[in-house]
Amino acid sequence: MLKVCFLSMKGGTGKTTLSLLFSYWAANRGLKVALMDMDPQGNATIACAEHLAFNEEGLLKLGMPYIIREFLTPGASSERLKETVQSNVLWVEQVKGKGLWVVPNFLETHKYDLHLAANHVVPVFVREVTSLLPEEIDVVVMDCPPYLSSLSYAALFGADAIVIPAETSKFGIVGVELLLTVVEDVIRKRGNPYHNIIIQPNRIRNTKASLFYLEAMRERYAEFLADSYFKETVEIPRMLREGILSFNVGSSTVRRNVIESIESLGNRILNGEGKN
Ligand SMILES: Nc1ncnc2c1ncn2[C@@H]1O[C@H](COP(=O)(O)OP(=O)(O)OP(=O)(O)O)[C@@H](O)[C@H]1O
Ligand SMILES: [Mg+2]
Repeated sequence: MLKVCFLSMKGGTGKTTLSLLFSYWAANRGLKVALMDMDPQGNATIACAEHLAFNEEGLLKLGMPYIIREFLTPGASSERLKETVQSNVLWVEQVKGKGLWVVPNFLETHKYDLHLAANHVVPVFVREVTSLLPEEIDVVVMDCPPYLSSLSYAALFGADAIVIPAETSKFGIVGVELLLTVVEDVIRKRGNPYHNIIIQPNRIRNTKASLFYLEAMRERYAEFLADSYFKETVEIPRMLREGILSFNVGSSTVRRNVIESIESLGNRILNGEGKN
């Protein structure tokens, strides 16, 4: 089981977008994917499990806060923990026979952030939760919030690979720089390097500034930089609305470019050709 987290210090860089695109791409190739929403904003949850918000048994009755609560319950048995995890993961049907599992998240999770840290659960949380997911899962995708919470650290401690979506701007570069120092610190603490760290330029515009900072990233982060980048295009939010199906629909040139970029990122994640 490969675990990959999408994380950046800066908001709106495309963590959720790329988590979803990668999940759909991997599911479309037949991999069994579990998308763990680590962000209490719940954007990934809403994007791929929208209808559940209207379910009478409702989204708000299911997901990450219940898993965390059980983890924090003193003396909880491993059987009970397994039951809790498995009843808080959803199968989301996208295309017949192809779908994905989702661990939903929502604002309630904020209540548990400090408790997670105080109980020293953070370093083991992801390893333990993922070991209790349905057994057939090949890839776990973690969409993190745009700040360092207990769940972001839990994702960093538990991940095999990290994708850092980055905008090509001054703040984009500062955000990457800061995050890399945090990543180094986590590597020291967990005593285990990542298979792969990928800085993925996203939302590239055809402006001088955007291309200038793209070049600056190439110079500064050559070893981590993705081989391809995502342009700013309305085709990307459209693909998210179509879900897995968007990989099967006849494509425009723009969409073909997006698919090529996600394939390039996806293969790099799966092949673990990390150089760190
Ligand atoms: N390449 C792109 N082209 C066009 N729109 C994009 C692209 N990437 C992301 N977006 C849009 O930018 C917005 C922010 O993207 P997204 O929610 O994925 O970022 P995020 O890093 O998850 O944000 P947050 O920090 O709030 O979690 C969304 O409206 C999304 O549709
Ligand atoms: Mg997000």
